[in-house]
Amino acid sequence: MKQALNIGLIGHKFMGKAHSHAYRDLEMFFEIDHHLVCHTLCGMEDDLEEAAERYGFLHTTRDWKSVVENPEIDVIDICTPDKFHKEIAIEAAKHGKHVICEKPLCLNYQEAREMYSAVKANGVHHLCNFTYRGLPAIKLARQLIESGKIGEIYHFRGFYFQDFSLSPDFPFVWRMDKELAGAGIIGDKGAHVVDLARYLAGEIQEVCCQSAVFVKERKAAESGEKKTVTTSDAAVFLARFENGALGNFEVSNMSAGRKNALLFEITGSKGAIRFDLERLNELEVYFDEEEEEVKGFRKIHVTESCHNLVSHWWPSGHNLGWEHTFIHQIYGLVHAIETGTENESNFYDGMACQQVLDAAALSDQKHSWIAVNEIGGV
Ligand SMILES: NC(=O)c1ccc[n+]([C@@H]2O[C@H](COP(=O)([O-])OP(=O)(O)OC[C@H]3O[C@@H](n4cnc5c(N)ncnc54)[C@H](O)[C@@H]3O)[C@@H](O)[C@H]2O)c1
Repeated sequence: MKQALNIGLIGHKFMGKAHSHAYRDLEMFFEIDHHLVCHTLCGMEDDLEEAAERYGFLHTTRDWKSVVENPEIDVIDICTPDKFHKEIAIEAAKHGKHVICEKPLCLNYQEAREMYSAVKANGVHHLCNFTYRGLPAIKLARQLIESGKIGEIYHFRGFYFQDFSLSPDFPFVWRMDKELAGAGIIGDKGAHVVDLARYLAGEIQEVCCQSAVFVKERKAAESGEKKTVTTSDAAVFLARFENGALGNFEVSNMSAGRKNALLFEITGSKGAIRFDLERLNELEVYFDEEEEEVKGFRKIHVTESCHNLVSHWWPSGHNLGWEHTFIHQIYGLVHAIETGTENESNFYDGMACQQVLDAAALSDQKHSWIAVNEIGGV
């Protein structure tokens, strides 16, 4: 009989549900030595007990400290608004728990340093969930870049657009409150794009950012009370990478018609790679070395068993979905726990990403270019 790995999950809504789904499906497709047990679910809303029953949790609580202190629990998974990440993660590490934390790792770089120090000092495994690293298409992009197929990288163009808050009638949510969400869209959507930039194109040296709040006041959903929006709706920034490549980033929650469009294009001295999250099983590639007559972008359907992670799933051509990224990311952590190795997408990455996000936020404030290492060395 397999030993249990007991999960304490803090935050039961959007990400809480995505992570719970991952815990339920993981063992059906991946060989692991432990049995994952959804032990305790923690959240604040009235539907907590109902959610726990549907997700398969044994216990519920509204007090995250009791989860972190529970000696039965092995892994603390943090799916709360950003403001609470630091305190929960540090307490979890001090209690010897492995820690999963949603992105962005926290509110700012100083907090990220404290979190990284805590997991290192306590020798626990850690995952900062940069979801999209869990996609086979992204793994293939990295593999092609590392093998030199597109040569020296010249450009990274990364965009993340949604339109959920386009209507001024969309209510005030925690993401619009600086206290809870820190750098707002720079930290939220920006974290995904900056992480992919670091993962695929290398470290960022300096940034120049501008952001905007298009709807400055919104009504609270329940009370109808008018509240001032203190985070940005959109941001654009330029970057220079350490390897000399140029970066161009844009993020918006008010991009009409865009539902969940995370797009990037990386071009180099020998070719290019393009990706669109709304078509997440595909990667577009261009190799300049190909014969003139057939040269052009072509689409790879990244569903072959030779592609990273795909052999765990379905036969060739059978698509994976957005939810599979969470299974892959959590599998990475469980594998690291079981083998004593380090998983990628960890708190170091969360911290390094946060440093770039802080530089972007400071640049926006100062209207000037900011060197990432001005924020303090990693
Ligand atoms: N990886 C991704 O693609 C992705 C997508 C969306 C959100 N996120 C991140 O996930 C985190 C959560 O976002 P969400 O969209 O799931 O938020 P949400 O609003 O849907 O859920 C937040 C949950 O946190 C709980 N919570 C709030 N304060 C708490 C407290 N003090 N103690 C215990 N529980 C508390 C709430 O009850 C709720 O269950 C954020 O950091 C966000 O940036 C990541």
